[in-house]
Amino acid sequence: MQVLIFPNATSLAQKSADLVESQIMTFPDTVLGLATGSTPLGLYQELIKRHHQEGLSFAGVKTFNLDEYVGIPSNHPQSYRSFMDENLFDRIDIEKSNTQVPDGMAENPLEVGPDYEQSIEAEGGIDLQVLGVGTDGHIGFNEPTSSLKSITRVKTLTKQTIEDNSRFFEPGEFQPKLAITMGIQTILNARRILLLAHGEKKSQAIRAMVEGPLSAFCPASALQFHPRTTVLVDEAAASKLTLGNYYKFVGEMQDELVRKHRPSDWISR
Ligand code: F6R
Repeated sequence: MQVLIFPNATSLAQKSADLVESQIMTFPDTVLGLATGSTPLGLYQELIKRHHQEGLSFAGVKTFNLDEYVGIPSNHPQSYRSFMDENLFDRIDIEKSNTQVPDGMAENPLEVGPDYEQSIEAEGGIDLQVLGVGTDGHIGFNEPTSSLKSITRVKTLTKQTIEDNSRFFEPGEFQPKLAITMGIQTILNARRILLLAHGEKKSQAIRAMVEGPLSAFCPASALQFHPRTTVLVDEAAASKLTLGNYYKFVGEMQDELVRKHRPSDWISR
């Protein structure tokens, strides 16, 4: 895993946007895997800005979202479809028909997973997957003890996740306890992974993910198996890392290597 540590969430968002932008500029028909939640908002705002100010185009881009709640319609303000439309898709030039979010209102939610896997495969797989991480180490909604080989399916959310996300629901409002999520294997199939985290609240999960044992108890630790994962964290999220200074040193050495020998190893296809 490559770990990049930034002084704050703004510089982290800018760097992650640089990486997504170079991917799209090189492959305008890039297939992106996207996340919801507060973590990628800075990235999305930066991409929207670049679309308006610099003409960054998403006209050929296709997207697959990680997850969706079961039991709330796509036009519900808390659905992940609404989140994506509001915070990204409606504000760039992407074709809405090229954006996919699992269907949380399917008559049989158990059938959604295999279809979603097929759709991803039909597009040639995900080139670049954007991830956040839960305080319990989940990625997508793969909660602790999810199979490291799992594919898209229905998952029961933990009390911790329900509590973390309760801030988005009105008191007394129905809050889903189930979600459809890409599996850990689905995520590992992506050619490139970009995991973002900021804030002290994420520091324990980041430590377990980067330095902990590979364990289904911390689903994000499965990324240790992925050969091209970049973790972008701010100082607060990096604060529990044992080898924080080493990752900074690696960053400096890599910059030097890239300067000397190859312009960029970032682009993926
Ligand atoms: C969202 C998702 C989740 C979030 C995680 C962190 O699509 O899959 O894994 O990335 O729960 O959420 P935030 O960013 O709100 O802290």
